[in-house]
Amino acid sequence: MTVNNGLEGVVAAETVLSEVDGEAGRLILRGHRLQDIAGRHSLEWLTAELWRGFVPGDLSEAAVRRDLGAARIAAFASIAPLLPQAAQLSPVEALRLLLAAVPDDAPGLPLRLTATIAVGLAAVLRTRAGTTPLPPDPALGHAADFLRMVRGCAATAAEAAALETYLLTATDHGLNASTFTARVVASTRAGLASSVTAALCALKGPLHGGAPGPVIDMLDAIGAPENAEAWLDAALQRGDRLMGFGHRVYRVTDPRSDVVKRAVESLGRNTGRVRFAEHIEQAALAVLAHRKPTRSLQTNLEFYTALLLEALAIPRDAFTGVFAVARVIGWIAHAHEQVAAERLIRPQSRYVGPLPLAA
Ligand code: ACO
Repeated sequence: MTVNNGLEGVVAAETVLSEVDGEAGRLILRGHRLQDIAGRHSLEWLTAELWRGFVPGDLSEAAVRRDLGAARIAAFASIAPLLPQAAQLSPVEALRLLLAAVPDDAPGLPLRLTATIAVGLAAVLRTRAGTTPLPPDPALGHAADFLRMVRGCAATAAEAAALETYLLTATDHGLNASTFTARVVASTRAGLASSVTAALCALKGPLHGGAPGPVIDMLDAIGAPENAEAWLDAALQRGDRLMGFGHRVYRVTDPRSDVVKRAVESLGRNTGRVRFAEHIEQAALAVLAHRKPTRSLQTNLEFYTALLLEALAIPRDAFTGVFAVARVIGWIAHAHEQVAAERLIRPQSRYVGPLPLAA
């Protein structure tokens, strides 16, 4: 019996949703290269592409925009009673509470769960800041409305476009830990709300969707370019992992990282901060190559995501929640695909504990 620790190299599902080519640094989403989607299409367009054939209903881009707007209005009403308790938690824990309250047999779950994450995160951030949550504007796109609800005022077109680019890059990515979790739960037929809630729990960890907040902590701790090499080298000597670097599948730069970096630059703000981050990135790559010569550890999505969300004035402890605003769309498609496959996911373990004493 071969044991693949961390399931590395194990193919556990066939999917029509996305392909991650770690050697070529290529991401395909339902037949489209990420580079051909980002900046050209809306999140609603990609939602329709990913959900087509899985989620019932009209899946034109216009219909998703209309129905998601209506779902945001409904979610705003349904989360209201939970907000005082949710706002006591960290933003991602608050989302866990809001998702867990959605029944598995509620109608229109794909839109409701997608809306709950965006509306819930914005409302929680405003409640804990002592401001009144802003009702959704169903006429806006999901990205622009989310930013408006977080900030309390309309986002500029450039800000909304930059956020939308990030959300497009983060929507789906093969069998990552949270998507696998969604598929495991879906395979037991537990229901979509349960699958999505479980997936959020997997996303929360710092080795997955919890990385971008700590990227900012790292930049702040380094403080100045001249400290970079010594700080990073000491971190690796302690056995720490550098947040925003490394990936289970990519052996070259994560293609999403380039797309998000261009989105940060398109904002034309925090340019000093971006140049500083570039310096830290190069120093980190050099230190990683020196200390971990047998593994190609490159920049991943989370490094420039942190810079982008910081430039959009989103609090750093909410970065994982923003990731979930996008990734929920992929979780939902994968959960449906797994249910259609009609196969319980149930791997085996090899027992290495003591054997019973012979009688
Ligand atoms: N910093 C320092 N060392 C690292 C890093 C890192 N960022 N990433 C991997 N390594 C080390 C491992 O400790 C291991 O060292 P060892 O052989 O001396 O024990 C070696 O490199 C090999 O690691 P991998 O097998 O390539 O890493 P794995 O596939 O287990 O982990 C992961 C991938 C979790 C993303 C890892 O690179 C990591 O922890 N990165 C930092 C957290 C991060 O940025 N997460 C976001 C990932 S992207 C996303 O989820 C959207």
